[in-house]
Amino acid sequence: MCGIIGYVGDRECRDILFRGLRKLEYRGYDSAGISIVHEGGFKLLHSVGNLDNLEAVLPELGDGGTVGIAHTRWATHGRPSNENAHPHTDCTGKFAIVLNGIVENYLSLRAELRAEGHTFSSETDAEVVAHLIERAYKGSLRDAAVAAYRLMEGHFTYCAIAVDEPGVIVGIRKETPMVLGLSEGENFIASAIPAFLAETRTVIFPEDGDVVVVTRKGVEITDLDGTPVAREAQVVDWDEEAAEKAGYETFMLKEIHEQPTSLADTLSERVSSDGRVALDGLGLDPEAIRNVRQVIIVACGTSYHAGLVGKYALERWARMPVEVEVASEFRYRDPVIGPDCLCIAISQSGETADTLAAMRLARQAGAHVLAVTNIVGSQATREADGVLFTRAGLEIGVAATKTFLTQVLAMLMLSLYFADQRGHLTPAQVREYTEGLRHIPATLRDYLEDGAAAKVEGVAKKYAASRFFLCLGRNMSLPVALEGALKLKEISYIPTDAYAAGEMKHGPIALLEEGSPVLVVATDSRVYDKLISNVQEVRARGARVIAVGSEGNESLSQMADEILPVPRTDEMLAPLVAIVPLQLFAYYVAKHKGEKVDQPRNLAKTVTVE
Ligand code: M6R
Repeated sequence: MCGIIGYVGDRECRDILFRGLRKLEYRGYDSAGISIVHEGGFKLLHSVGNLDNLEAVLPELGDGGTVGIAHTRWATHGRPSNENAHPHTDCTGKFAIVLNGIVENYLSLRAELRAEGHTFSSETDAEVVAHLIERAYKGSLRDAAVAAYRLMEGHFTYCAIAVDEPGVIVGIRKETPMVLGLSEGENFIASAIPAFLAETRTVIFPEDGDVVVVTRKGVEITDLDGTPVAREAQVVDWDEEAAEKAGYETFMLKEIHEQPTSLADTLSERVSSDGRVALDGLGLDPEAIRNVRQVIIVACGTSYHAGLVGKYALERWARMPVEVEVASEFRYRDPVIGPDCLCIAISQSGETADTLAAMRLARQAGAHVLAVTNIVGSQATREADGVLFTRAGLEIGVAATKTFLTQVLAMLMLSLYFADQRGHLTPAQVREYTEGLRHIPATLRDYLEDGAAAKVEGVAKKYAASRFFLCLGRNMSLPVALEGALKLKEISYIPTDAYAAGEMKHGPIALLEEGSPVLVVATDSRVYDKLISNVQEVRARGARVIAVGSEGNESLSQMADEILPVPRTDEMLAPLVAIVPLQLFAYYVAKHKGEKVDQPRNLAKTVTVE
């Protein structure tokens, strides 16, 4: 939610800041702004809408200025408008701030500041920070920023600049991301690494409560009381090209096609010489794995669907009892968590506020918390007892695709590993499934190179004018149906429901009428015949069946109005291939409707608010 970048150095910073915002646009895109220290004041520019609009007016900032902050917004308090766009300034125009997150007590702070004579020009929670700094300032921006922090509740990262301290940016973080980029004679502060990846790969991840003072010479990090804290610099090996479209029309399409590589990377070095899954970094020794009595998976959105796949696999292979919980619900229940509980938090960003809160709750109750995440250095990795990294690479498209597939793979690998350690599968069975997993990247590569996208597009464009979709699955194909439906909702805006196929007759079947499009995930499985009975029920109501099926299944082809064949796999591995035509289907429905696929309305890539 919201992207921040700040620059201090010798170069003119306008274009550096704008390029940084471009790389952060996935975090929010309803308005944006830049503030640059220049000739004893600030140059300030705001615009509503995505960054194309800011770019169009960028020349208004003129030349000059080597210190600045910039922001791309995902609105929480106050609609998208020039007034509500960051950076915000105080009454004197001497301080400017950008903030990512939420100041929960902003109304009382605002009332207090108003009573003291401060004038507000926006409806945002963030603006209080500029006024709090103004009130506290006695010659040190750092101290004033800390004084403001001490009065604020919520979770946020903010950066401040001051006219009277023209070579300094001060940043403070609390439960939302911040990363520093270090270079020769210039330094960066941002919400995420891509913002400055073109300039430097040397990074520091500050911790909660760290106060950073960024100048052209370096960064100083202290705690709130001013005591220096040591934070190690790391060099990231991210590929800058990952942040480009590489010839694809959108990031989402590129990322769908990157899935074979992401899967291969996630598997890499995690299969032992005897062909079994080998995982480290989990913080669990073999005895601890054998002693786990309860598994709770917490996640949101797409990651929750990966968790559902994990439930089926952990139960079937490792015989572990598993609950999967939407994190925002879990955190406000009174869940029963025993000391022999393993909590698995799945989050591609590692920054989702609800998932982090659920992790904390589980940890406080004595559970061992394992994070499955794609982002090195993310908050989830700091708060977990162990981490299993997916290696999807940077995902820019707001609709998750390659991160989902790697999460599913991670959950399958984890389930095999646990099954092996707990002795519920024989070594031969573990080897057989592991071998199956090793084949998936090549299988998927062949499928995509064989023109899968064009074939799915041919079907999708016939249905782009649909008013409603129903997605059905059973057993391992149910999470696939749920995820396919989420993709359709997110990017095509067509109302889509997803159901366990056997549950359809208890209500959703009433939605069907002549011609209603129903997507059915009908790959080979132990419940295939049951699912086909449900397909017949759909057909009997005159609905049109679009089936994802195992290639060569002639009877399914004859039964369905449209068939989206996928390579045959073991049913436990099928989600890794069956979701791909549904990702493509959603993509092409949205494209043919003329929607902006990479930046769906109202969404943001990283949801750092409750
Ligand atoms: O970063 P996370 O995996 O924790 O994000 C969870 C959801 O916000 C995310 O999966 C969301 O549903 C995506 N937009 C799905 O495409």
